[in-house]
Amino acid sequence: MPTTAVVIAAHVMMSSHTYAEGDREFGEYLSAECVTCHQSKDVDAKIPVIDGMDAAGFAALMEAYRNEELENPTMRIIAKRLTDEEIAALAAYFSSLPEPE
Ligand code: HEC
Repeated sequence: MPTTAVVIAAHVMMSSHTYAEGDREFGEYLSAECVTCHQSKDVDAKIPVIDGMDAAGFAALMEAYRNEELENPTMRIIAKRLTDEEIAALAAYFSSLPEPE
């Protein structure tokens, strides 16, 4: 069935969009801490919106806080507590959210 092929292709494309097979549901659970600061609606705030961020870019930023390439002390502390698996899960979750207008 051509329809099935299209559905499968769409699935493959969607899953290749997530970073290193991060567990989206685990990411959603972990995100509770993040969204106290990172609010999707407050686009004018000093804290950047991370909803809809590219998964690989997200993971790279978290890695940069973890190895102190980026300055922010709060994010350094937060990133250092996270495992690779947790970062991948958070990347999968936040990248799956719609980007705010
Ligand atoms: C106490 C508030 C606070 C919490 C909690 C917090 N962040 Fe942040 N985060 C910030 C601030 C402030 C920045 C901007 C830092 C900078 O300018 O380098 C930031 C930056 C980021 C960035 C880089 C965004 C960009 O566009 O440069 C990412 C990704 C990020 N945070 C992810 C997370 C994740 C994931 C969590 C939860 C595990 C989290 N943050 C929890 C305050 C917070």
